[in-house]
Amino acid sequence: MSAPKLSAVEGLKAASHGLRGTLAEELAAGGIQVSEDAYQLLKFHGSYEQFDRDTATDRKQHGLEKEYQFMLRVRMPGGRLTAAQYLALDALADDRANRTIRITTRQGIQFHGILKGDLKPAIADINRTLLTTMSACGDVVRNIMCSPTPTRDARHARLWEDAQALSEHLKPKSRAYYEIFLDEPPNPAADEEETLYGPTYLPRKFKIGITHEADNTIDVLTNDLGIIAKFEGDTLLGYTIAVGGGLGMTHNNARTYPRLATPVAFVDPGELFGIVDAVIALQRDHGDRTNRRRARLKYVVDDQGLPWIRDTLATYFGKPLTEPPPLKLQVPDLLGWHEQGDGLLWLGVPVAAGRIRDEGDMRLRSALRIIARRFTPGLTLTPQQDVLLTDIAPADRAAVEAVLRDHGVTLAGAISPMAQYALSCPALPTCGLALTEAERMHPEIVGGLDALLARHGLADRRLSVRITGCPNGCARTYAGDIGIVGRMPGFYAVFVGGDFEGTRLNFKLLEKVAHADVIRLFDPLFAAWAAQGQGEGFGDFCHRLGRDRLLGLQAAEAA
Ligand code: HEM
Ligand code: SF4
Repeated sequence: MSAPKLSAVEGLKAASHGLRGTLAEELAAGGIQVSEDAYQLLKFHGSYEQFDRDTATDRKQHGLEKEYQFMLRVRMPGGRLTAAQYLALDALADDRANRTIRITTRQGIQFHGILKGDLKPAIADINRTLLTTMSACGDVVRNIMCSPTPTRDARHARLWEDAQALSEHLKPKSRAYYEIFLDEPPNPAADEEETLYGPTYLPRKFKIGITHEADNTIDVLTNDLGIIAKFEGDTLLGYTIAVGGGLGMTHNNARTYPRLATPVAFVDPGELFGIVDAVIALQRDHGDRTNRRRARLKYVVDDQGLPWIRDTLATYFGKPLTEPPPLKLQVPDLLGWHEQGDGLLWLGVPVAAGRIRDEGDMRLRSALRIIARRFTPGLTLTPQQDVLLTDIAPADRAAVEAVLRDHGVTLAGAISPMAQYALSCPALPTCGLALTEAERMHPEIVGGLDALLARHGLADRRLSVRITGCPNGCARTYAGDIGIVGRMPGFYAVFVGGDFEGTRLNFKLLEKVAHADVIRLFDPLFAAWAAQGQGEGFGDFCHRLGRDRLLGLQAAEAA
């Protein structure tokens, strides 16, 4: 039998001369689009070519070309920015993008609506702020997530240092990015050998998150590689290593599914790079390069089984693996005012669906710009798509809050915990894969659920609601109490039964719910949770009852 054919992207990577391809020429060539090959390579440098889906059909009917535009993703481990960096990104939103800044679910920032001619200058602008878009997308290690909790102690400092060090360590060696986007001359003396990735990089995207048990805001187990540090007081004892998380799936393809990472080892503090390299090398050599839908590490874990994974990982690591201790993950509340532990304060500001913009009376973008200029706080973006303004002097507390209030910004105390934790992916009109709306119906879903929760006396309960426009799960839809997933235009699949702490996947309750019925279906479920819940979270309640009994509640309501 002949070996299965490698996917087309594998050939492209191999022939790309270190991710260069024809990108430089195509970017210089004018026009509004790039070729298919350049589209694929561009991802490695942090950009997706997209088009405005709102105008595409009408333009086609009038014989006009689609309005091509580019999404650009900034890589920033742990979502940390200085005020100066934030201000530069804020200016870029006006100069080169669609006047909005989007906080992503992986603590990054995305710009939308960049025209082809602005792409290279935008990337140069970002690099001038000492940030980068390199490896923000593509078949490499993406932005590394890290506990966003701004408590200034040795534990959080260590996590942040680790995230930064890993991010540096795992950057591709290719100089392509610097040559193509920053006009640096080729350097024949530079060592560009991809010693870890190899010439064809990884079979697919690879996600890493690092945190400790007290902060699972990052949903650490949804990463290909989840790292959970264990401390005794301020002393780092080591890291639990969990492998094979990943959420993307395809409707009607049972061979694709979401999976949470499995803890497989505990390593000493000095062994972090060694085990990370070992996990990446295992996926590099054993990940499926023939079928991109099954190319993630999670499928290697399931196809080969955990004993094989442990043995093989030990071989790459060069020593036997130590059994990891049990995990107890928690999710802290980060919004509102908190003491950092160094005499300064942080303020967590909720950002609905992660979109920072000025709209009507709610002028969040202006407010953040003024605060960044006047008070120079640090900024930390959270995996809940919110922003934490850090290092604020207690004497400035009232003034900072006044700026936000004067700009109509909703503060955490004014919205329910459900609204604070709700996530949405961008979906329409930018994402080419979106089947339905997500971000643009965020206010409607959150408002509707809020009203229902209030009606059942549940307004103060924490639960996680996550909405995506397709099954890829960019807003971690399968790891929340409730997942609402675009199924086909106008219809959503509804998932329930995950847990707030991010330790259990949810399950599909209904396959195809019309947009108009999405809120209504939660009425009997919330009523039952209020009446029969045993103090447990909504997802725990749904998990305990199971799909059939939950469907029975639906049927009883309909009768
Ligand atoms: C496996 C299939 C997936 C594909 C093909 C995919 C593709 C995409 C595309 C095209 C976008 C750009 C949308 C836009 O900004 O207009 C996007 C956004 C994003 N994706 Fe995915 N994605 C996948 C799964 C995931 C998963 C499982 C996660 C993490 C849990 C994730 C995290 C993100 C993030 C953080 C963004 C930025 C948007 C935001 O949340 O603000 N993606 N993805
Ligand atoms: S979940 Fe689907 S629709 Fe939403 S951003 Fe990801 S790929 Fe696009």
